[in-house]
Amino acid sequence: MTTSQKFGGNWTEEKLNIFTRYLDAYLIALQNQKFKKIYIDAFAGTGEIETRDGGQYLAGSAKRALASEKKFDHYYFIEADSQKAGELQDMINSEFPQMRRSVTIFCGDANDKLAGIISSVDWRFNRGLLFLDPYATQVHWTTLENVAQTKSIDVWYLFPFSALERMLPKNGKYDKWEDCIDRLLGDSGWREEFYKKDPQMTLFDLFPEPGQNDGERMVKDANPDHIKEYILSRLGTIFPCVSKHARIFRNSRNSPMFLFCFAIASESPKAQGLALRMADYILKNK
Ligand SMILES: C[S@@+](CC[C@H](N)C(=O)[O-])C[C@H]1O[C@@H](n2cnc3c(N)ncnc32)[C@H](O)[C@@H]1O
Repeated sequence: MTTSQKFGGNWTEEKLNIFTRYLDAYLIALQNQKFKKIYIDAFAGTGEIETRDGGQYLAGSAKRALASEKKFDHYYFIEADSQKAGELQDMINSEFPQMRRSVTIFCGDANDKLAGIISSVDWRFNRGLLFLDPYATQVHWTTLENVAQTKSIDVWYLFPFSALERMLPKNGKYDKWEDCIDRLLGDSGWREEFYKKDPQMTLFDLFPEPGQNDGERMVKDANPDHIKEYILSRLGTIFPCVSKHARIFRNSRNSPMFLFCFAIASESPKAQGLALRMADYILKNK
């Protein structure tokens, strides 16, 4: 018996609807092009979802991609959990048996397996749609760089906004998260971007502890809008085109949980214009 995965909030369906609308539009836009079309779902899951809060049952990204009316030439699914990867294969065997030959499932880490897929494809003759849908900070910046250098992949990335915010404490004591944040954002600029010297002079500044220099205390100086703009600007350093209309998904207490971003690796102004028009239209209209 299969076990559906439980995760997400009420943004899960919204995320999947946005992504599926883009996927359908993408396949129509490329239908008369000479390129082969490749789908990559790097955090694929099982194809079935039960949301944790709403008790809803939804078709996951893998099932939605396979069920689209127009088809990709090949589908790559990556899933770290071997049981889930097995359930995904069972679902494909029973619900999409005619498509088995155009599907490859990799069990392992998304960063490693994606690097393998990217290097095995000749991107002069192929175009890709990539879904990065991690639970948290699993996507390495080097993976995004690798995707961007194909110049041929459109990517939807569910950026782990709340995980990043949790690693940026108000008191500037981010030491234990530094490596993780550097890996997530790809450089060290976030320290200056999100922190400033504490303007409040305290007794601790007048009588610093041994080893602590005068004036060294840092405090956070960043709100969610600022953090969102920084994430988009970071993506803009490697992708030639990034939607400004990334959607923030919030929990029931209105706290930002994820930032759903769209980026285009193509350098063709025509391809960028079309992809951005489709993505922005979907992101702007609920
Ligand atoms: C949010 S779920 C993805 C759901 C899927 N997109 C869907 O719509 O059904 C994240 C999935 O990534 C898997 N995962 C976690 N870490 C991973 C990693 N480093 N590489 C690949 N998959 C990973 C989890 O087991 C889980 O199934």
